[in-house]
Amino acid sequence: MPEAGRPLDDVLARLGPAIAKSYNTAGPGYLAYIPGGGVYASALADFVATATNRYVGVTAAAPVLAQVEETAVGWLCALMGLPEGSRGILTSGGSLSNFSAIVTAREELLGEDFQDGVIYLSEETHHCVAKAARLAGFPRASLRTLPTDARFRLVPSALEEAVRDDRARGRRPFLVVANAGTTNTGAIDPLPEVLRIARAHSLWVHADAAYGGFFRLAPGGEGLLGGIEECDSITLDPHKGLFLPYGLGALLVRDGASLARAHRGTASYVQDVAEEGSLGFADLSPELSRDFRGLRLWLPLVLHGVAAFREQLAEKLSLARWAFEQLRDDGRFEVLDEPQLSIVAFRLRAPEADAERLGPELLRRVNARKRVFLSSTRIAGRYALRICVLSFRTHEDRVRDAVVALREEAAALLG
Ligand SMILES: Cc1ncc(COP(=O)(O)O)c(C=O)c1O
Repeated sequence: MPEAGRPLDDVLARLGPAIAKSYNTAGPGYLAYIPGGGVYASALADFVATATNRYVGVTAAAPVLAQVEETAVGWLCALMGLPEGSRGILTSGGSLSNFSAIVTAREELLGEDFQDGVIYLSEETHHCVAKAARLAGFPRASLRTLPTDARFRLVPSALEEAVRDDRARGRRPFLVVANAGTTNTGAIDPLPEVLRIARAHSLWVHADAAYGGFFRLAPGGEGLLGGIEECDSITLDPHKGLFLPYGLGALLVRDGASLARAHRGTASYVQDVAEEGSLGFADLSPELSRDFRGLRLWLPLVLHGVAAFREQLAEKLSLARWAFEQLRDDGRFEVLDEPQLSIVAFRLRAPEADAERLGPELLRRVNARKRVFLSSTRIAGRYALRICVLSFRTHEDRVRDAVVALREEAAALLG
């Protein structure tokens, strides 16, 4: 660290090229992984929140600002159809939301001696769930990875069978993590069937809707994610489906008090602000000191109105649908599934060895054009490319660029 300070212009001059040497995740051509967007109003909110540096973890420390965050989280609970009594916390992202969900379910259903607990997930579940289970103290054998169907959705009969089997072996099934939009293909697990089985066996149902949840805002969205309103907890990522800058996840819990039972701590040095009967965010989450992150969620919604987000999400669904139709009708591509949300996964139609070799080359060539940026994955062990449309800056022109680039480069590669 320098002993003496320097003028801001000099420092910014160094920062500019550093920012330029990066993926432009806020650009319209970013169709890789799960795009965010970086809504400007959140940057403004962060500036106000960090410059005033108010503390919202304890309600008494900034009652109205804490209520702003509570209100914004309440909007998310209402959007997901959760009842009165539900509560939520804002986290840094989906990984930590899933972590707190596992800890909450563990505390509610297993108590302190939980090594025989079993968590059910599918082979398409995001890897942060396995990571979270490990961090929550579960041995690897606690995870039961279930097969998916031809559309990458968890197979309910496999869940039922696995639960019975584990019970018969004296283990304690307690949690099923259902996908409401997988990362690979946007698949939505059959929530009503999962809930029916879970209720019959007294399991907690957590929906990982980090990517898919906000599509409930689009017309017909409630039907897309039907059953999510019955889940015990839900992970949402406003830094995905609400296009906010990285660093904002949410965990919503049907029985809000369960968050406090899992996370609350006490100490004499906070006695001045301890309020009988009131639960602040520090009581509901793993964090104590943290930023006033509710403002980066509240401000864009108030400034733009939720209709703007509905419109954007509807456009993303139809753009993915359009890309799917273009690739499906082109004999050079094999599309893995009709989009359930805004992701299209596909591969070159070629003998397996060629597809494994040519797929990465196709990706390299398309990205080298610098109009769009796609990413790849492996699905059922085979190489696949993905288009994920989820930035408010992405419109038809860019998705068209992606399709044109794919067609031209595929033609060049396949001859
Ligand atoms: C379905 C799903 N769950 C969880 C996560 C992890 O979220 P985060 O990256 O915000 O920690 C992701 C990230 O892409 C995801 O797509």
